[in-house]
Amino acid sequence: MVTAVTELTSVRTAAFDEIPIIDLGGVLRRESGAKETAAAALRAACENVGFFYVRNHGVPETEIEGIFDIGRRFFALPLETKLAIHKNLSPQHAGYTPLLAENTDLSNNGDLHESFDMVSPLAHYPTKQAADEEVNLWPESLPELKASLDRYFDHVLELGRRLFELVAVSLGQDEESFRPHLTKPIAMLRINSYPPQAVNSDSRQIGIGAHTDYECFTILAQQPGITALQVWNGREWIKAPPIPGTFVVNIADLLQRWTNDAFLSTRHRAINMSGGARLSIPFFLGVNYDTTISPLPGCVSAERPGRYPPVIAGDYVLQRLNETYGKQGSSTQ
Ligand code: OGA
Ligand code: NI
Repeated sequence: MVTAVTELTSVRTAAFDEIPIIDLGGVLRRESGAKETAAAALRAACENVGFFYVRNHGVPETEIEGIFDIGRRFFALPLETKLAIHKNLSPQHAGYTPLLAENTDLSNNGDLHESFDMVSPLAHYPTKQAADEEVNLWPESLPELKASLDRYFDHVLELGRRLFELVAVSLGQDEESFRPHLTKPIAMLRINSYPPQAVNSDSRQIGIGAHTDYECFTILAQQPGITALQVWNGREWIKAPPIPGTFVVNIADLLQRWTNDAFLSTRHRAINMSGGARLSIPFFLGVNYDTTISPLPGCVSAERPGRYPPVIAGDYVLQRLNETYGKQGSSTQ
């Protein structure tokens, strides 16, 4: 079932046209063989596409709907209320990002979305003075936001931990091998709000410019009925429409690095030409702040020696965030 390690080293030439759907129902029901089947599908998706949908993922639909509702209420707050929790006030990049303040593609002119970020309350950020210090910035006038996001965070983290088990199985490792790195993981739960735009796709101001994500997995809930996310398949942009009952998952840079480039962190962007506002809710999952990321044993071979020096997971991600927001800070703030 699990492919031989040598296959990791084969050259990947196939561009992809489809984003596979992986059904986790059998895994959740603990059916025999389900984990191995899902792990093989996950590995093929991670090696060839870097993107996949997950179905029967275990996160209750009511929680997902609830978070879209509360997200809409957050963005409807007066701008001053949102600016009072501006992300620049947070060393961990929690809080509110106004329109055009993020710039994921520096050849563009800023991203056409606002967002709210909750960072992992579990993580040992070195900037934290005490383990239980509140690292998030919450709007006083919407206390329900914290309660909803806390609940959703727990659900989606459980899914993320399950995905790591499948990664372990897919690499021929013990399914629990990532567990020690996921006790207090760094993570960000974001709500993006994209205003509609009436432009063609080569405009220099789009919902979110072409980029890769920084952490290990991104688990994205898309607003039903609006197609905006696009994925680069090596030749052209392909659409990743919302599919009811699924999340879109993508590999991010830290996991590409950890797997010594076996898994792909694929470029993507979003353009909302639907005529109405669009919300999307990504959960960016890393590992414990102090986990050392050096190429995993199953991903190094004679033909593919380790390509990356070790980094500390949290330092790597914070540096990437500082670069993104630091650059925008000097140009647009
Ligand atoms: C992101 C992202 C895509 C989307 O927030 O990193 O790529 O569809 N979002 O909103
Ligand atoms: Ni992204």
